[in-house]
Amino acid sequence: MRFSLATAALLAGPALAAPPAPRHDDKDVGLNALAQRAGKLWFGTAADIPGTDETTDAAYLKILENPANFGEITPANAMKFMYTEPEQNVFNYTGGDYVLNLAERHGQRVRCHNLVWASQLSDFVNNGNWTKESLTAVMRNHIFHVVQHFGRRCYSWDVVNEALNGDGTFSSSIWYDTIGEDYFYLAFQYAQEALAEIHANDVKLYYNDYGIENPGTKADAVHNLVKELRKRDIRIDGIGLESHFEVGFTPSLQDQLSTKQGYIALGLDVAITELDVRFTQAPYYDAAGEKQQAQDYYTSVSSCIEAGPKCIGITVWDFDDKYSWVPYTFAGQGGADIYNATLQAKPAYYAIADALQGKACSVC
Ligand SMILES: *[C@@H]1O[C@H](CO)[C@@H](O)[C@H](O)[C@H]1NC(C)=O
Ligand SMILES: *[C@@H]1O[C@H](CO)[C@@H](O)[C@H](O)[C@H]1NC(C)=O
Ligand SMILES: *[C@@H]1O[C@H](CO)[C@@H](O)[C@H](O)[C@H]1NC(C)=O
Repeated sequence: MRFSLATAALLAGPALAAPPAPRHDDKDVGLNALAQRAGKLWFGTAADIPGTDETTDAAYLKILENPANFGEITPANAMKFMYTEPEQNVFNYTGGDYVLNLAERHGQRVRCHNLVWASQLSDFVNNGNWTKESLTAVMRNHIFHVVQHFGRRCYSWDVVNEALNGDGTFSSSIWYDTIGEDYFYLAFQYAQEALAEIHANDVKLYYNDYGIENPGTKADAVHNLVKELRKRDIRIDGIGLESHFEVGFTPSLQDQLSTKQGYIALGLDVAITELDVRFTQAPYYDAAGEKQQAQDYYTSVSSCIEAGPKCIGITVWDFDDKYSWVPYTFAGQGGADIYNATLQAKPAYYAIADALQGKACSVC
């Protein structure tokens, strides 16, 4: 048992009745408050703002902007290439600044997302007739401008997003197809250099991907990328484990834990960055399904708790079925989030609260 200084002073003083011990099992205390009590930097969420219905939905914003609920926000889209550099060397930081301003007003951190990815690129990138040299210059220019504009307001950058196939080889993208695998290492090098120039070396550099949450070829490939960066003396600070799972098919606690421990053993931080657990078919809200989904969330969050402080935080990829990306991306699938479509907490929410307190799951 640990005593706070105040409690210790009371015990050492005259025979005053000690105040009642604070209850650390209140499920309505807020998931971020519980995560921080557990030593995490945050429980966070993605949010697709500005320019969407979320931006003006008062009920949604009331939950999002409460720092007891969320200590971190990831811009779902606002910082992606097509929005930040819509035309070559023409930068637009309006959306990214909007997210940062909103988060900072409520004491929330921001994982900045992302710099180099195959998708959501500007037409000028997709349609250019690039050489290795000219596209490398485009990548460098983008990274320097965006990283230096947002600066230390970003807790971290997802420098490269989703670079690998399931078999651990580099996936096809304009970056890889034109530049070769050097693009991956150069992206981290440029991000490091851009931050050094503005004395912002504390902004963390992450690789973010899915399918790397459990042991296997793809996780092994991530280890190799990290080793190659190290060999080239280029900094990487963390691995983002997206953790987009399906109800009933979430990797086991042991698999998720040992995989996190593997990255941590390389000297890295890890974060769960895009957690959701979708139903692959309706119904999304029957009791048995919600119970299994609660178990899946419980397992994933528990793996971060058990991994210790180097698993720095957990972010869900939006918190509610009202604005989930899932139905738009996977036809017929849904119900993936921890609040339902009318913004009520689902059993998964309470399972997470239990996991954050190191307690058995009361709703699984
Ligand atoms: C810049 O981005 C904002 C937010 O996405 C958008 O509303 C605005 O139209 C953009 N400005 C230009 C000049 O494209
Ligand atoms: C693409 O660039 C190459 C080399 O710079 C050039 O020879 C070729 O004509 C260009 N193709 C188009 C369609 O512009
Ligand atoms: C959300 O959950 C609440 C409480 O369980 C329920 O009353 C409401 O009907 C649900 N909304 C939807 C859209 O399922």
